[in-house]
Order: sequence, then C-alpha cells, then structure tokens
Amino acid sequence: MNDHLHGIDKFVQQVRADFTATDPEYSQLQPMGQALKSICMAKGFATGLFRQADPGEELMYPLSVDPNGGPSAYLVSDGIGVDTPPHDHHTWAVIVGLRGTEYHLFYRHLDNTSHTVINTAECAVATGDILVMEKSEIHAIDAGRGQHPTWHVHLYGRAQSKLPDFASRCYEVSGS
Ligand SMILES: [Fe+2]
Repeated sequence: MNDHLHGIDKFVQQVRADFTATDPEYSQLQPMGQALKSICMAKGFATGLFRQADPGEELMYPLSVDPNGGPSAYLVSDGIGVDTPPHDHHTWAVIVGLRGTEYHLFYRHLDNTSHTVINTAECAVATGDILVMEKSEIHAIDAGRGQHPTWHVHLYGRAQSKLPDFASRCYEVSGS
C-alpha cells in the first residue's frame, strides 16, 4: 500500500479505537481534520491511483472502512454537474479538500414535523480546507458553484454501507 494511504488507514484505525463507543465532541472534530489533512498533504495525495469522475459521475473509493460499521474514510470524486441534495449522515463527518472545490450549503429544519429545510449557511471546501459536521447537520453540495471534478477525503463516524438508504436521509428545500 502506498505511504499516505497506509497513513490514512492507520489514522482511521486510531479514530476507530478512540470513537467507536462514544462520538467525538464538536471541539475534537477540527483537530481530527487537521491531523487528516497533514497526512493527506504530507507527500501530495496520489489521486492518480484512482480514476477521476467523469461529468455527471460520483465516485467513492473506500480508504479505510470498519467492518463493524464504525469510523470509515473514503476518497470522493464528483464530476462536473453533480449536485448532491440536502441530506444528513446520521453521524459526524470530517472532510479535507485535495483538489477542486466542493461548494457546501447548510440547512436547518423548518419545523419539527416536516422533512422541509431552509438554507442557513454556505462555504467552499477547496485544496487544504477542512469541513467538520456534527451528527445533526444537514448539507448539500452545489456543483454549479464548485469546481469539478473534485477530489476530497471524507471521514464519517459510521461506514456508508451501514447508514440508512440515501433517499431516506434527504430533505426538501422550502420554497423550491
Ligand atoms: Fe454529505
């Protein structure tokens, strides 16, 4: 295994040891992102080992996936024109930008009962940027304002295969 891929796997194994029973506090997510960024940037992430997403394509390569469904990291490449609708993850998340720009929109629930949300904030996640999200956060990715294709490392508190179906985690935007 290539050095930094090995480094990421080792790092995520430690995260797994630390945070399988209890989720990290919000204040622990940013340092986790800094540590992950250091590993990713140390020698330049060899994205050339992976195929970049074509227009309209979303690719997610497992980098370190917990067989028990705990903290897991993926390399994500989104092609030109790939919008990701508002959704939550049912867990915390840490994202590090390698190349291209993911343009994130954030939302809050309109009320307690509906699956409708309203936009509250936004930010660009470009090379070297770190984005952390708590379990309750709802976000979307707007390809029109990002720079695609993208390469980002996504670390989640749970393996993607163990999460509920993506469609069930999506929300309607109020007024759209
Ligand atoms: Fe997401």
